[in-house]
Amino acid sequence: MLVTVPGSSSNFGPGFDCLGLAWKLYDWISFEAADRLVITGCEERFRGPENLAYRSFAAAFSEKGLPVPGVRIAFAECSVPVSRGLGSSAALIAAGAAAANDMGGLGMTREELLALCTRMEGHPDNLAPSLFGGFTASTCEDGKVVTVRFPLHPSLRFLAVIPDFELSTALARGVLPDTVSRGDAVFQLSRTALLLRAFADGDMALLRFAMQDRLHQPFRLPLIPGAEKVFAEAENAGAAACISGAGSTMLVIAGSAPAADGLQALLQQAFPSWHVLPLEPDREGLRILP
Ligand code: HSE
Repeated sequence: MLVTVPGSSSNFGPGFDCLGLAWKLYDWISFEAADRLVITGCEERFRGPENLAYRSFAAAFSEKGLPVPGVRIAFAECSVPVSRGLGSSAALIAAGAAAANDMGGLGMTREELLALCTRMEGHPDNLAPSLFGGFTASTCEDGKVVTVRFPLHPSLRFLAVIPDFELSTALARGVLPDTVSRGDAVFQLSRTALLLRAFADGDMALLRFAMQDRLHQPFRLPLIPGAEKVFAEAENAGAAACISGAGSTMLVIAGSAPAADGLQALLQQAFPSWHVLPLEPDREGLRILP
């Protein structure tokens, strides 16, 4: 079987570890019964049992108390860049668990797959959009994941500004403080609430105000040389910017196609070795093709 799974962005400024949006940017991975584990189509370092798609494949069988069968996993096409904040690990985890569910007839619902995958990833913000598509808010408590979808106004245009360097999620989480003040907590939750309305209405003034964050971006921006220029150019053009997930990618959100086109040209010129890529939301999530 062939699994196609979208990459995603999480956080969108204040919605740390909660908000996520799937992109029309896909990994295509085939799974075929075999007498042992064989992994092809990826770098040598990803061909062992630590491969995330295999680990979640195995976890799904183990969840049901079943032995893990041999499998040939072939990475046919992987468009989601690795370690750039575009949800590549969540996409692989979702793909492996969904493939196991289908191949093994395990009978798990998408919600159960989300809960299983969240135990591996630690937070559901990228997994929910990869599995369900769309713009989601998700949280996890006692192993149960609650996820809901929110509307996105069709006028909004998204650019991924993808640096030519990776940023490890462990490093980008390691720089965050363990505690926040009540003032900062109120700052975050009020902006997250306003942000959902701004996305639904395509209200750029509200979006620019609401996409502020005190929880993670101030600590992560120094890890992304060039990020301040990206944020400043977005600001000058009436757009909004945030770090995609843990970075290194940044997202620029514009209110119209001409505004996005202008920013794409400007940012690509400013960062010739980076990739400035228009992204469209995916609304379907993971699909399994026979
Ligand atoms: N929400 C996560 C973070 C995404 O910002 O650290 C990376 O897994």
